[in-house]
Amino acid sequence: MEQQMHAIGFRQYGAADVLEPLRVARPEVTSNSVLLHVAAAGINPADWRIRQGQFRFLMRSPFPYIPGADVAGTVVEVGSAVTRVQPCDAVYAMRPTIAGGGYAEYVAVDAAAVAALPAKLSFVEAAAVPLAALTALQALRDKAQLQPNMHLLINGASGGVGTFAVQIAKAMGARVTAVCSGRNADLVRSLGADAVRDYTREDITHGTDRYDRVFDAIGHYPFLKWRRVLVPQGKLVSVHPLVGNPISQVLARLSGRRLASVIVQPSGTDLETLAGWMNAGQVRPVIDQVYPSAEAAAAHRYSETQRARGKLVLVMDADAAPATLDAQTEAYVPAATVQP
Ligand SMILES: NC(=O)c1ccc[n+]([C@@H]2O[C@H](COP(=O)([O-])OP(=O)(O)OC[C@H]3O[C@@H](n4cnc5c(N)ncnc54)[C@H](OP(=O)(O)O)[C@@H]3O)[C@@H](O)[C@H]2O)c1
Repeated sequence: MEQQMHAIGFRQYGAADVLEPLRVARPEVTSNSVLLHVAAAGINPADWRIRQGQFRFLMRSPFPYIPGADVAGTVVEVGSAVTRVQPCDAVYAMRPTIAGGGYAEYVAVDAAAVAALPAKLSFVEAAAVPLAALTALQALRDKAQLQPNMHLLINGASGGVGTFAVQIAKAMGARVTAVCSGRNADLVRSLGADAVRDYTREDITHGTDRYDRVFDAIGHYPFLKWRRVLVPQGKLVSVHPLVGNPISQVLARLSGRRLASVIVQPSGTDLETLAGWMNAGQVRPVIDQVYPSAEAAAAHRYSETQRARGKLVLVMDADAAPATLDAQTEAYVPAATVQP
């Protein structure tokens, strides 16, 4: 008889209140996957975009659907071909964005997408990392080919992706100008930004400054808006998948600039690279709110405002990943580092 588990998910597309507690079959491992007991799950805008039905054309027999690409927890079972990790290892991982599955007691993850929990991070902190930090790393290293001393503009520097991008770019030796609203200027400066521009006070695609690279972690401006702030041979990388469309590619080539979109890929090797920076104290997750799993709908509503400062995390197992309630703000704040 199949084993059952608790999860949070939905049986139809809609507003946040379609999220409900579910009893579903516990996933089974294949030869190359591992089964994790989930302590905490990270929240990303993709989770509510999927819930709203924005990606319905990509989904095969989606219901009930369990959101969640980001997980941190303990390995309970490994497939026969897995050598990378073993039972009882504390790990963090990313599932393919569309697949979800993280808001659950257990999740099966491809072994190649798993890495050891960074030494200084609790499960709650580690769950905040994978999708957003991998997006920033893959955008800056692989798409932008960022080099030391390049001048980089990061749009959306205070969000989940942006807070990692600022720190990763500094770790890679770039000069960083960060774009955020005034209320988040101190935050992005504390992450290492050399200069801050407030998008609520100026049009950041105007002005006299020129950048070697622009990373648009919001994705609402087309290439034509960014072209004028790029040096000749400069390159735009955007989180918007359509920015790299053929017409923009031609316009970019004619102007001597380049552009690319990033689509994040799970990678245990890249999570190890990120862990190296986190262990060295060069990169840290910025966590805005931590929610118990029963408040997943509230977490989605907050993420949908697109005002979050850094990351939101769901606690799936309060014993493994304790979070405390701040009496003054009534916000859940991450507990001190939890040793698994
Ligand atoms: N292509 C991919 O593989 C990929 C991967 C990850 C994410 N994404 C997409 O990338 C986007 C960002 O993701 P995220 O996780 O960073 O989102 P997020 O954490 O929800 O971003 C929220 C932040 O965005 C800032 N913001 C909102 N409007 C802005 C604007 N007009 N200019 C500058 N900053 C603005 C907000 O700051 P203020 O409150 O100060 O405005 C807030 O701090 C989302 O659309 C997501 O779907 C794509």
